[in-house]
Amino acid sequence: MSVFENLETLKSEALLQINAASDLSTLNDKRVEYLGKKGPITDVMKQMKDLSNEDKPKLGAAVNIVKSAIEDAIEAKKVELEAAEIGAKLAKETIDVTLPATKRTKGSRHILTQTREEIEDIFIGMGYSVENGYEIESDNYNFERMNLPKNHPARDMQDTFYITPETLFRTHTSPVQARVMEKHDFTKGALKMIAPGKVYRRDTDDATHSHQFMQIEGLVIDKGIAMSDLKGTLDHLIKKMFGAEREIRLRPSFFPFTEPSVEVDISCFACGGEGCRVCKHTGWIEILGGGMVHPKVLEMSGIDPETYTGFAFGIGVERVAMLRFGINDIRGFYQNDVRFTNQFK
Ligand code: PHE
Repeated sequence: MSVFENLETLKSEALLQINAASDLSTLNDKRVEYLGKKGPITDVMKQMKDLSNEDKPKLGAAVNIVKSAIEDAIEAKKVELEAAEIGAKLAKETIDVTLPATKRTKGSRHILTQTREEIEDIFIGMGYSVENGYEIESDNYNFERMNLPKNHPARDMQDTFYITPETLFRTHTSPVQARVMEKHDFTKGALKMIAPGKVYRRDTDDATHSHQFMQIEGLVIDKGIAMSDLKGTLDHLIKKMFGAEREIRLRPSFFPFTEPSVEVDISCFACGGEGCRVCKHTGWIEILGGGMVHPKVLEMSGIDPETYTGFAFGIGVERVAMLRFGINDIRGFYQNDVRFTNQFK
């Protein structure tokens, strides 16, 4: 078989294999195999020396034709394979926008946090500062400084959890009064503060009682503060929180740290005043206690009761939320049942 015939066979074999390549890496192998330095074309060229002078340039020309035929075939196949590869990738990555999406649920603040912040905003708007105290308090601040000496019978109303005989879970936010009073500098103006936080009592849990609940303490001290200031402040608070239609009742009461003392009731949301389980069949729900700061309490915190007077009050945050949203069981706040909490997003 002549070298020219060999070349023809080589060409048709190469074109066949190039066309059969199913991917780009096989195609690249074929390029190396046929056009590389150690390939069959180099072998053909080596036979040049055995040809006549007349045939030598003919072989050169034939080899060039075969070479470019192979190169063209490789290029054409490459374009084809690349297009197929992109097509396959696109088909694989198709997104079905009609599939249902994964639902993401959004969290929200607890209703007690929302209520506390709303009350805080009302008082911040009246120029009060927001103070922090301690949930674990000394007997001194929780009781003695609030005019509840040891063995005072009024301590029974607020029996609590003792850690040591002198350290306890605070029974009310009132100890923050003493902590703020003893530090206050009256040359910088009146003392106007609220103090929100958790308090603890040895109570039996029922629809309206919990051994742990939340209060907001209020305290204003300056020259000439009177009972009318307390009444006006609470009236403003209740109107802002509940609207003008809710009824309020002020009753004389007793707290060792205020004189005179008042209990503020709000008409029952559940029965409208007729009497039910929620209001213990009285038609009224106690929402806060308050009064004029007792002179002894001022004195114990280094404030002269002849010069300064003040009022104080304590609000139950759960009760406020219960009244506003018609919640009839306080235990719902603490059970973290999403069916309850999700209602207040
Ligand atoms: N500390 C009282 C209580 O927890 C509430 C109160 C606060 C009363 C301030 C008067 C003044 O019952």
